[in-house]
Amino acid sequence: MEKKIVIDGGKKLYGEVSISGAKNAVLKLIAAALLVEDVCLIHNVPDLSDVETMVDLINSLGAKTKYSKLSQTIEIDARDITNHVADYAYVSKMRASFNVLGALLSRCGESKVALPGGCAIGERRVDFHIKGLQLLGADVNIENGYVIAKSRKLKGADISLAIPSVGATENLMLASIFADGVTRIQNAAQEPEIVDLANFLNMAGADINGAGTPEITINGVARGSLKGIEYSTIPDRIEAASYACAVCAAGGEIVVRDIIPAHLTFFINKMCEIGVKIDAVDPYSLRIKKDKRLKATDLITQPYPGFHTDMQAPVMSVLALADGTSVITESLFENRFMQVPELRRMGADIQQENSRAVIKGVEFLTGTEVKASDLRAGAAMVIAALAARGKSSISNIHHIDRGYEKIEEKFSQLGANIKRVEINENLSDNQIVNSKVLS
Ligand code: EPZ
Repeated sequence: MEKKIVIDGGKKLYGEVSISGAKNAVLKLIAAALLVEDVCLIHNVPDLSDVETMVDLINSLGAKTKYSKLSQTIEIDARDITNHVADYAYVSKMRASFNVLGALLSRCGESKVALPGGCAIGERRVDFHIKGLQLLGADVNIENGYVIAKSRKLKGADISLAIPSVGATENLMLASIFADGVTRIQNAAQEPEIVDLANFLNMAGADINGAGTPEITINGVARGSLKGIEYSTIPDRIEAASYACAVCAAGGEIVVRDIIPAHLTFFINKMCEIGVKIDAVDPYSLRIKKDKRLKATDLITQPYPGFHTDMQAPVMSVLALADGTSVITESLFENRFMQVPELRRMGADIQQENSRAVIKGVEFLTGTEVKASDLRAGAAMVIAALAARGKSSISNIHHIDRGYEKIEEKFSQLGANIKRVEINENLSDNQIVNSKVLS
């Protein structure tokens, strides 16, 4: 039976929420553990379906894992990697699986990974990944929908990315760890998740400098020289911003705990500019308060440290209720406004022309049936539904489960009326309320 999230909106949010480990960091740490011929223990691992997919993938490659959702840890023993093929079954479920391409190539000298197709949010090509591997000396071919990369010994090279791609920077870092000599990645992505990956690898014995800047230098170390480590994943800045957006839309005052505020600088400045009150409670917590109608603003998504594309949909739900007209320009992905028609169903006034969305703020949204069309559009639906008058039900919630741990539990702690229910497709909205509550 299908599951939905049902929200009775219009209640202000109060209380504290603890933020989980970053999905987009931990998935790459798990891929990086393939380079370590030893046992690694990773802490602060969120309980998410994407993490399960990545664990299944590395198990299929021969790694032995112990994943404890209770203690939020994963132990990875990658001493015996017996397979260098990442099947389409994994890559089609989750694009981050493609990140094992560089890791398997450097570990095994050969790697065969299913080519990800386009996805809901855009074309998402992998040409930078492939070109970078070729510059490192790999022989790369595409056969029957798989990228096949081979090289007995990669050689350090200067690689300049046309766009600071997060995935390409990560894949090329992983590929070059054991390369002969020095690799320089220019116009590298500067996201905190890149720094986390470099910190993990350096702690294990790699020699990476400059992560977090546009030029990353990797001095190759001997294959087999990385040692097992214990490491804790950074907090999820997108989850933190999403909870902050919820209070900015619904009103109230919450404390967001276990975060690194510096990772949210652009977001915090923008929210303060439109009237949100944000102050530091301690070095790892922020108090977010919304006590009056917020002002409209304009935003352009950009690579870090600019305004993050993953925060665009959640912020749109906030601006849908702001005073005045806002313009959001999505500069990274071609199709990342899938929340727009759903927000319109809730009464939002949004016009979309290609990569621009013009949002005329309305006084209130009304609850209705909507769907999550991708992960962040799904978060935008939850945020809008929390603020809306009346009841909403959100379908396709498997998208939300990819990136938001225990979302109903966390919002319930903040006073929201939210539950996950099993839905008989023939039920009306009123009957949904009486459906079997799952959590
Ligand atoms: C990562 O995707 C994140 N995913 C995305 O988060 C995030 O939106 C994105 O970075 C941007 O910050 C993970 O970390 C698992 P890119 P990634 O390579 O690495 C183009 C979420 O909701 N490009 O930085 O795939 C590409 O098409 C997800 O958690 C090429 O043209 O993003 C895009 O327009 C969704 N050729 C731009 O670069 C290439 O070879 C940035 O993509 C690679 C990328």
